[in-house]
Amino acid sequence: MKIVVIQGPNLNMLGVREQNIYGPMKLEQIHAQMKDVATQNGVEIEFFQSNLEGEIVDKVQECYGDAQGIIINAAAYTHTSIAIRDAISAVSIPTIEVHISNIHRREEFRKENMLAPVCASSIVGFGPFGYHLAMMGMLQILNELKAAQEAHQKAQEEAQA
Ligand code: DQA
Repeated sequence: MKIVVIQGPNLNMLGVREQNIYGPMKLEQIHAQMKDVATQNGVEIEFFQSNLEGEIVDKVQECYGDAQGIIINAAAYTHTSIAIRDAISAVSIPTIEVHISNIHRREEFRKENMLAPVCASSIVGFGPFGYHLAMMGMLQILNELKAAQEAHQKAQEEAQA
């Protein structure tokens, strides 16, 4: 099982940008914690960050046939990108979106969310801990997926016997 973590524009600036909103933690530290959780649970994990919308679309498409779960913080593109939304919809891979800040308590333009309707879940406002919660949620989704696949296989084997 493989999870791909996709980080959008300006998240490479975590630890520097608006610390009063996003806190002091750097992206590498967040990823190190997620990697630990993945390793403990025997799951492969890959990290990707881009400031470019098209590269994020490409990365979501690359997940098709390669990953079983996506965790994405599309950052500002969350509020504008029909292209990223369509890519998530196209690949049909369970996706959890994360926002470090509570986007509902901020400027009006952050209340628009193009991605939430095509995601399994949205986690907002927990700071970097939101990524840990997303990992927990994704592991649960993957366990359910695995159990459903095993049940399906067993039923097929029984039908053939
Ligand atoms: C963000 C919220 C977005 O509105 C903003 O553009 C970001 C970060 C968050 O994690 O809180 O860059 O996605």
